[in-house]
Amino acid sequence: MTSKFHFLSFLFFSFISYSFQNPNPDSNSSPSRAHTELTNYGFPIGLLPATTILNYNVNQTSGEFTVYLGDSCKITLPPDNYLATYSKRITGKIVKGRIAELDGIRVQAFFKWWSITGIRSNDEDLVFEVGMVTAKYPLKNFDESPPCEGRYSAS
Ligand SMILES: *[C@@H]1O[C@H](CO)[C@@H](O)[C@H](O)[C@H]1NC(C)=O
Repeated sequence: MTSKFHFLSFLFFSFISYSFQNPNPDSNSSPSRAHTELTNYGFPIGLLPATTILNYNVNQTSGEFTVYLGDSCKITLPPDNYLATYSKRITGKIVKGRIAELDGIRVQAFFKWWSITGIRSNDEDLVFEVGMVTAKYPLKNFDESPPCEGRYSAS
């Protein structure tokens, strides 16, 4: 009887301390595990929009990853307000500070849509690669995940 009581109170207090150690940072847009996984690779959570992540996987050996969003997503990228779209399925290869062979994120510039093929990160900047062309933005623009402004129909 006593041991049972001890066990229950142990569970109870474990639960309480667990809740206190894991406060929900922001009930509106709590980052998913996929968002926080990005930070393990030196990338900010703002690279992924604030939307439902159905699933994601990373091959720890090769770095190959797939992220499945609940739906396609249209966002405005800071600071220049480029329109960008995320496909429901995003793939690539991730290692610390570098995403390569990226597929599924496109950005509109000069009246055309371009696929972002790679992203690099250092302590201060994110460097987006569109083929041979690169564009650099301060990391601090990506502290928060941008909200989806609706889906888009892939044409
Ligand atoms: C992960 O990548 C390695 C190296 O390319 C490959 O041999 C292995 O089969 C992959 N694992 C999975 C689960 O796909």
